[in-house]
Amino acid sequence: MCGIVGYLGHRQAYEILIQGLHRLEYRGYDSAGVALINDDCNLNVYKTRGKVSNLEQSADGKDTNGTVGIAHTRWATHGEPNDVNAHPQLSQSRSIALVHNGTIENYSVLKKALIQHGYSFESDTDTEVLVQLIEFIKITNGCSTLDAVTEALHQVEGAYAIAVIEDGDPDTLIVARKSSPLVIGVGDGETFIASDATPIVGFTDKVVYLQDDEIAVIRRGKPLQVLSLKDNKPSKINIQTLKLSLAQLEKGGYDTFMLKEIFEQPATLRDCLRGRIVDDCNRVVLSGVEINKDKFLNARRIVLVACGTSWHAALIGKRLIQEMCGIPVEVEYASEFRYSNPCLTKDDIVISISQSGETADTLAAIQLAREKGAFVYGICNVVGASIPRNTDSGTYIHVGPEIGVASTKAFTGQVTVLVLLALCVGQLRGTILPQTVHDVAKALTELPETIEKTLRLDSKIQELSRIFTYAHNFLYLGRGYNYPTALEGALKLKEISYIHAEGYPAAEMKHGPIALIDHEMPSVIIAPSDSLYDKIISNVQQVKARGGSVIAIVSKGNRAMADIADYCLEIPEVPECLSPIVASIPLQLLAYHIAVNKGKNVDMPRNLAKSVTVE
Ligand code: M6R
Repeated sequence: MCGIVGYLGHRQAYEILIQGLHRLEYRGYDSAGVALINDDCNLNVYKTRGKVSNLEQSADGKDTNGTVGIAHTRWATHGEPNDVNAHPQLSQSRSIALVHNGTIENYSVLKKALIQHGYSFESDTDTEVLVQLIEFIKITNGCSTLDAVTEALHQVEGAYAIAVIEDGDPDTLIVARKSSPLVIGVGDGETFIASDATPIVGFTDKVVYLQDDEIAVIRRGKPLQVLSLKDNKPSKINIQTLKLSLAQLEKGGYDTFMLKEIFEQPATLRDCLRGRIVDDCNRVVLSGVEINKDKFLNARRIVLVACGTSWHAALIGKRLIQEMCGIPVEVEYASEFRYSNPCLTKDDIVISISQSGETADTLAAIQLAREKGAFVYGICNVVGASIPRNTDSGTYIHVGPEIGVASTKAFTGQVTVLVLLALCVGQLRGTILPQTVHDVAKALTELPETIEKTLRLDSKIQELSRIFTYAHNFLYLGRGYNYPTALEGALKLKEISYIHAEGYPAAEMKHGPIALIDHEMPSVIIAPSDSLYDKIISNVQQVKARGGSVIAIVSKGNRAMADIADYCLEIPEVPECLSPIVASIPLQLLAYHIAVNKGKNVDMPRNLAKSVTVE
């Protein structure tokens, strides 16, 4: 978790760092801090609990001069969110400043050893141990700071992306990474570093993705130097061109990123589908699948691994792949899979699904799958992230940066790619009728318009949300393809409004949760006109019979449900396998409006961060 940013160049660093922190705030917002070396070569550090705006207030009027600096926005792991635990962390002599994204697992052993050498600690963080260790090595070995950083990183276990500056040296910035992302932006006489490319956009489009076990030294007026931490030899520098625009990182007139991202879905799905449906909707092309045709033809089993919303998409993927490709599919939480000693062979395909491509559990799951010989395929949004770089092949969902912590457009993009993948593999294996390919592919090409129509429900949902703003619990029910949609709807409500909500397969309700139903427990029922519609009607009757109020998501023109449910939201009819994409739109809007009615910060819900790069 956490976001780091750094700058060395000819401009004043402070504004660049603050702007970068704002763009990285989705990664955590428990505290923020900045370290700068001013024109007199003195190190100034400002840090505070809370959001980046708090940092701006507390640094207001202070000396923020300097053309080199590092900064941090934190999602707390070691130590409560307070000023002292905020980064940058300083060495004992207060001359080395360090920001860190990751976790130093052996910090307590190292801390004990340093205490024995007379070191004392101010914070509860693992990061302070690392910066103290660097200074200890520098003094003990009489070596350069670069050598001390290198040696310290040999001694630590865990994950890190770090940036280091030193009092008295305004011309050097040192960065390194292992298992946490770090991007270097190479400008004209200036260099930017950050946890992702967003703080760099608008300054330069030339970037280098630092690899695991690499350390880079940025020296004023000198070319970038990248070394392997393993053997200290220079690494090849691969400069890539960034394809992100400033407009993609701004709210574009919306009050929040989440609302922008919900309303962007017609466009993001158009981008996601571009070039993938050909021959008058008779063929689906996914290059990642086609170049690995044999793997998909001979697959014995597919295991989908993911976390959170991406795991809900995986549940939908299971149904799609089983139905269209006739391959047995399992779905695993990446966090469980990684410690489950899974039985995998070279004929198994492990498909990871991740918006960020940085989720630690998902990354560890695919590393394990590869070690065990499985073919690993990634479905990801962030181009160049760690997960796509650690898979054998994959497909990007191409929905653009998702900044709101609650995933919306990434979910619909993931499900869309899973539909494409199932169609593509089904064609290759001959397990799907050409007419089905055509019908689903055609409906996919119409999906952007379908979503546009669905978004017209917004004002009705806003009105409806007022009735339920103060409910304490919600039940979300769905069946078949829409059981995962129910889970996703419940997660959206929980994470941004802090209302307890449970997603359940509608027919399972009678085995326990029905006991919860009373007039204070609203149920959201996802009931499009599909093969299980008649079944779900009786589940709705069961809720109504116990005094519960029902909000039903139904297909346009459905009258039967209107007689039973208290409120009906009509969505356009689509093939059954696409209904989770359409049905998730009103659920996103309902969660959004309830959270806004409650005055919650929907883009930055409490305790959460966008990418979960810790266990
Ligand atoms: O980046 P990933 O898709 O791997 O993230 C997985 C989850 O952390 C993420 O989906 C999380 O559950 C979201 N906050 C849900 O809105």
